[in-house]
Amino acid sequence: FAPASLHLNEVKFFARHLKARRHNSHKGSYGNVAVIGGARGMSGAPILAARAALNSGAGRVYALFVEDALPCDPGQPELMCRPAGDYDLDQATLVIGPGLGDSTAAQALLASSIASGSPLLADADALNLLAADTALQTVLAQRSKPTVLTPHPLEAARLLGSSIGAVQADRLAAARTLAARLNAVVVLKGSGTVIAAPDGKAVINTTGNPALATAGTGDVLAGLCGALLAQGWPHWEAALAAVWLHGMAADVLVSEGCGPIGLTAAELIPAIRTALNRM
Ligand code: APR
Ligand code: MG
Repeated sequence: FAPASLHLNEVKFFARHLKARRHNSHKGSYGNVAVIGGARGMSGAPILAARAALNSGAGRVYALFVEDALPCDPGQPELMCRPAGDYDLDQATLVIGPGLGDSTAAQALLASSIASGSPLLADADALNLLAADTALQTVLAQRSKPTVLTPHPLEAARLLGSSIGAVQADRLAAARTLAARLNAVVVLKGSGTVIAAPDGKAVINTTGNPALATAGTGDVLAGLCGALLAQGWPHWEAALAAVWLHGMAADVLVSEGCGPIGLTAAELIPAIRTALNRM
């Protein structure tokens, strides 16, 4: 497949997958997202992902902590914050990795998430743990439920056993190789994010800008994509739309003077909500 670019008019393509909010619908109609992460000192990462999922339309959102669960998020009290061990992983679309750390408990949660019958998005430390465990990679590749992986270049290099330089020298090849090897939709992040599928199709996103080069923007992308999966989007379309919307939100914010200097990941969240509703 030759790579296609994702252009503004793709909004029509995405809009087909937006579920109309029927009058007689309820929170159960829009899916559950459970974000799993939050090692000690890393509570902000799962909170950002969970807030993004909630503001992107998921019906119920859980923030599950591997250590030191926050009692709640005072800035977003709708989130259900819990110790990860208390949650039934088959009850939600799982977003695992933001601030997860590399503890034994984190490893066990990753293995259980991969073994679950739930749609799964793995990001950040979940990818680092996966890179170090080839047996788990084999189990991941055999999943029958949708799987999305969202590595940045270093995470991709670890998964491939190569270097950032090699990944960046041929980003399309890196994303396609990972997608085929792990049987997942792979989102290779960074300027010109590549989205690749196991069958070799690949798209280069055209939205986004260096305002996104700030801590936590990847966590927001993970939560947004998890929310689309929970609302029933097919995983290829969910990954494409999430990347496109995330970049579009940053482009709009920059046009309003909120960047490129000093944009924060949390500010992206309401801009993503606006972009989704305009869709
Ligand atoms: N142009 C366009 N998009 C960009 C640019 C750029 N110049 N720079 C960054 N982005 C986008 C990426 O495409 C991605 O969507 O911003 C996001 C950054 O995501 P991450 O690299 O995952 O960064 P971050 O959110 O800080 O990650 C949080 O997880 O990946 C680990 O080590 C990371 O601890 C950190 C945590
Ligand atoms: Mg990240």
